Formats: sequence, structure tokens, C-alpha cells
Amino acid sequence: MDLVLMGGSLRPASLNTRLLGHLAGELEARGHRITAFAGPALRFALFEEGLAPSPAVVALQQALLAAQGVVIVSPEYNAGIPGHLKNAVDWLSTLKPSPWTGLPVLLAAASPGAFGGARGLLAWRAALANMGAVALPEAITVPQADRHLDEAGKPVEARAEAAVGKAVEGFLSLAARLRPGA
Ligand SMILES: Cc1cc2nc3c(=O)[nH]c(=O)nc-3n(C[C@H](O)[C@H](O)[C@H](O)COP(=O)(O)O)c2cc1C
Repeated sequence: MDLVLMGGSLRPASLNTRLLGHLAGELEARGHRITAFAGPALRFALFEEGLAPSPAVVALQQALLAAQGVVIVSPEYNAGIPGHLKNAVDWLSTLKPSPWTGLPVLLAAASPGAFGGARGLLAWRAALANMGAVALPEAITVPQADRHLDEAGKPVEARAEAAVGKAVEGFLSLAARLRPGA
């Protein structure tokens, strides 16, 4: 399958970008083709009506339109979606065709906090449902990620890594059913 991964923060040391790298490796190891948009690659101009989308916004739109699914790896800011990622989402939702319509999504988050970014993912679910995307009910959350992610972004606890495998398999199954052979 052709799959997109997007997310991370604008910090060079982003835990979420690190987790995104690990998930990309997991998907590539299963034979899938990955296009990643992480960290500063999602630093778009603030959305403004009448402003033309930049080539980088259009490149993301085209990659999503060509993909069978997307993995979103998002930090949680104040129990919500960080501004640069919400801005990217809003840009994409204004384009025709919107790449979100019917798009299978796997949500993932890493946080130094106790909830692993789970509250931010609820905000993602509301936005994705509004745009017609189809988010897998299961998600990947990594609490205390400053200690529980290794240098390559792999969760160090066996149970967390098993949860990653289960969510990835569920996502691939959802994408194959919703976008067979796309
Ligand atoms: C403005 C701001 C708000 C934050 N709010 C939350 C929050 O609600 N929940 C949480 O778990 N962490 C919160 N954090 C901490 C982030 O989870 C932490 O900075 C994390 O490392 C960000 O992801 P990154 O490592 O990919 O940059 C917040 C950080 C910032 C800068």
C-alpha cells in the first residue's frame, strides 16, 4: 500500500517525530511504501481565505489523495491539536478534492505526561469525523515518552510495543477494506 505519515512537532528533539520514524519503519518492514511529512515539513503559512495554498500544501494533498491511509502522530497541546497541525488540517480541508473524505486514519501520540496524549486524540477524532475521514477506534499512545521511547522511537515496554503492532495491523486491515487496491 501507499501510506502517508504526518505529524511531530516543530522541535528538533520531538518525541512524536521519533515515534513517527519508528512507525514508518514498522510499515516499511511489512512491505508498504511510505511518504512522511514530519516536523518543519508541516510549517505552512497560517490559513487565510483568499491565500493560495503553497506547493508544500498541495504536495501533501496529492500524497494523501494517492494514499490508502494516513498515520497521524500528534503531540497534545492543552488537551488539543497543536496549532501547526490544525493549520495543516484546515488548509487541506479547503482544497478540492479534500483528501480527508473517506481516508482511513491511524492516530498516535507521545507525551511525557501520564495520559500519553490521549486527550489530544479526542480532538483529532472530532475534526476527522467532521471532514469525513475514518479513524480506527484503536490508537497508539505512549505515556512518559521521554523515558519510554528508545532513540529510534520504539516504545521500550513490551506491552506498549505489542499495542503498536495490534493498532498497525488493525489500521492496515481497515485501509485494505476501505481502499482496496487504490
Ligand atoms: C503549549 C503546550 C501545551 C501542552 N499541553 C499538554 C497537554 O495538554 N497534555 C500533555 O500530555 N502534554 C502537554 N504538553 C507537553 C507536551 O506533551 C510535550 O512538550 C511533548 O514533548 C510535545 O511533543 P514533542 O516532543 O513531539 O515536541 C504541552 C506542551 C506545550 C508546549
